[in-house]
Amino acid sequence: MRQITFNQQNASAIGLGTWRMGEGNNAKNEEELKTIQYGLDHGITVLDTAEMYGDGKSETLIGKAIQGYNRDDFQLISKFYPNHATPELIKSSLENSLKRLKTDYLDLYLLHWRGATPLAETIAGLQAVQKAGYIKNWGVSNFDIADLKELDSLAGGNECRVNEDLYNVASRGIEYSILPWQKEHKMSFIGYSPFGSDGGDFLTIKPILIEMAKQKHVTVYQLLLAWVLRNHNILSIPKSSTIEHLKDNMAAVDIKFTADELKLIDSEYPKPNKNTQLEVI
Ligand SMILES: NC(=O)c1ccc[n+]([C@@H]2O[C@H](COP(=O)([O-])OP(=O)(O)OC[C@H]3O[C@@H](n4cnc5c(N)ncnc54)[C@H](OP(=O)(O)O)[C@@H]3O)[C@@H](O)[C@H]2O)c1
Repeated sequence: MRQITFNQQNASAIGLGTWRMGEGNNAKNEEELKTIQYGLDHGITVLDTAEMYGDGKSETLIGKAIQGYNRDDFQLISKFYPNHATPELIKSSLENSLKRLKTDYLDLYLLHWRGATPLAETIAGLQAVQKAGYIKNWGVSNFDIADLKELDSLAGGNECRVNEDLYNVASRGIEYSILPWQKEHKMSFIGYSPFGSDGGDFLTIKPILIEMAKQKHVTVYQLLLAWVLRNHNILSIPKSSTIEHLKDNMAAVDIKFTADELKLIDSEYPKPNKNTQLEVI
């Protein structure tokens, strides 16, 4: 699969999102486990999860799926709740996540969204678990431009490796200032919910996309994902709980757009021309 530079290393152009995975019956969980393994066997090198997802069920599923795989071959991202963002609670959340994931380190540990704990305390907590070897690096999620600048102004804040925000054709606000700022500060960007999440609740598919997908002999989902990936500096993490969806998504990495096609999409889903409040799911 096409490679990008992510978190200062090579990574597959898409990762695998796992929100709402591991929460079904045995047959569904088995299908999802096989999907994760199919991804690892076919070049996916980033898995995204969180302590929040199914109250640890997503992490537990990943923990089962990755046994027998070489841990150095893929990057594992998990996230902690904002109300677990003090040094003591970061440590205990992380211990629980590592237990469920059946691994001894995370590649990236992210503050899931900003809460009441001062960022300086969270940085100190993350530095402590990093020093102890439990995480390679850390980052944030759902940070707006003002949050990123504030973080960067604090001691150690510039060690933040990634920010994970909503990004799809209908939610383009991050293009205005967040993406350029992160590029300038060499901070990787992870775009979540490329399809507008489960059920597409956060994205209206307009006829133009259906027509364009037909012309390009791809599915609308593939078109949506390829559009996010047109910028080669972004890691998108679609959730796929079936091998069929994952295969489609992996194939979408190679779909290209003409300048006219991109212009047409812009006319229906406009680029931001000013700072807007960050959209979150
Ligand atoms: N940091 C945050 O606050 C945050 C917030 C939201 C999400 N995330 C992360 O981002 C990941 C992705 O976002 P998301 O789960 O919200 O939604 P998403 O990836 O936008 O959409 C997932 C939905 O699309 C379907 N799908 C996937 N590939 C498809 C294909 N090729 N054809 C047709 N349908 C397809 C999935 O069905 P199947 O399940 O049947 O494959 C599922 O219903 C999450 O899983 C999570 O890891 C992070």
